[in-house]
Amino acid sequence: MKKSELFDFDTPVERRGTASMKWEKYKNQDIIPMWVADMDFRSPPAVIRAIQQRTADGVFGYTLTPEDLNDRVVTMLQETYNWSVKPEWLVWLPGLVAGLNVACRAVGKDGDDVMTAIPAYPPFLSAPGFSRRSLIKVPLKEKDNRWQFDFDRLEQMITEKTRLFILCNPHNPVGRVYTRSELAELAAICDKHDIVICSDEIHCGLILDIDKVHVPTAILDPDVAARTITLMAPSKTFNLPGLGCAFAVISDKKLRRQFKNHMAGIVPRPNVLGYAAAMAAFAECTDWHAALLDYLRSNLETISRAIRQMPPFSIAPVEATYLAWIDMRSSGLKSPVSFFEASGVGLQDGIEFDGPGFARLNFGCSRSLLEKALERMTAAMGNLKG
Ligand SMILES: Cc1ncc(COP(=O)(O)O)c(C=O)c1O
Repeated sequence: MKKSELFDFDTPVERRGTASMKWEKYKNQDIIPMWVADMDFRSPPAVIRAIQQRTADGVFGYTLTPEDLNDRVVTMLQETYNWSVKPEWLVWLPGLVAGLNVACRAVGKDGDDVMTAIPAYPPFLSAPGFSRRSLIKVPLKEKDNRWQFDFDRLEQMITEKTRLFILCNPHNPVGRVYTRSELAELAAICDKHDIVICSDEIHCGLILDIDKVHVPTAILDPDVAARTITLMAPSKTFNLPGLGCAFAVISDKKLRRQFKNHMAGIVPRPNVLGYAAAMAAFAECTDWHAALLDYLRSNLETISRAIRQMPPFSIAPVEATYLAWIDMRSSGLKSPVSFFEASGVGLQDGIEFDGPGFARLNFGCSRSLLEKALERMTAAMGNLKG
């Protein structure tokens, strides 16, 4: 029996009327929302149980980070990535976006430059400006049907004021799982120019290509670790983004102090339910996680097949995430997103990621909903040609 058959990802969950950001966007409209990155699945049963148990005593006072959660994360990082982390290196956060913004403020000074690769998750593009830094955007290049760093161009674009590189690995929206050698090349450039790396690894539990493994940037070597702020969370893998619980791993004492100083008085701790959910997710959900990956791999096959039958659209292989980055540049559509909204499918516009001509489709949903959306897209493209 496939792992995905042990859990029910097929029965659609009614999310209308639950103040869901994803579903409220198209309230009272027949548009299937496939935009923001949360999945339409219930959280793992163990997480739901843990939250129920935590609410049963009815006391929700100020909380410390549970010690056993720190230990659990340390064990998880050791077992999963062979990464030896000390509990004091962990800095808990109410979300990764807060962590990205703190990293921009904690490194360098006002007026410095922050670099990232585009297309990029939108808060990568806004965090430097919010932090009084300028943004340098280096386009990824498409080569051999794979999105890759253009290291020559990247190095040329580094200025004397470039102090931080924001990395997304695995990469949202292009779905790449960067290899050890790609990361090493990036880290060597950052070392040469004295640049700190903020490595957003929120999608690391969603590796769909069975030949790929996630390599945390900080495991490359201790020198790289010393200049890296790693951001992680259980939220994408276990579908808990509304519970606001994430963490940074910062091995260098000075960098960690700078990071914490910039959080002080502004960034709250996660709440009691976020901690309870994180603990259950990391301790008790191995089977659910494996089942989810099986299901998402089948969804990815479904969408890849459908897109192949929708020329001139194309997608490069999605190695990780539940997000397909669809190239619609040669379709002649002025606004692909408006076109598909008018056809009943709500995609996310590539422009938001600095990737005009592309659209992002979230396939973290029941197969039946995905098929319905793809049928609508196929029909819309058929009408266009007809
Ligand atoms: C790369 C990346 N970082 C961070 C986030 C969001 O993090 P959080 O909800 O913890 O602020 C997302 C959500 O889609 C993401 O894709």
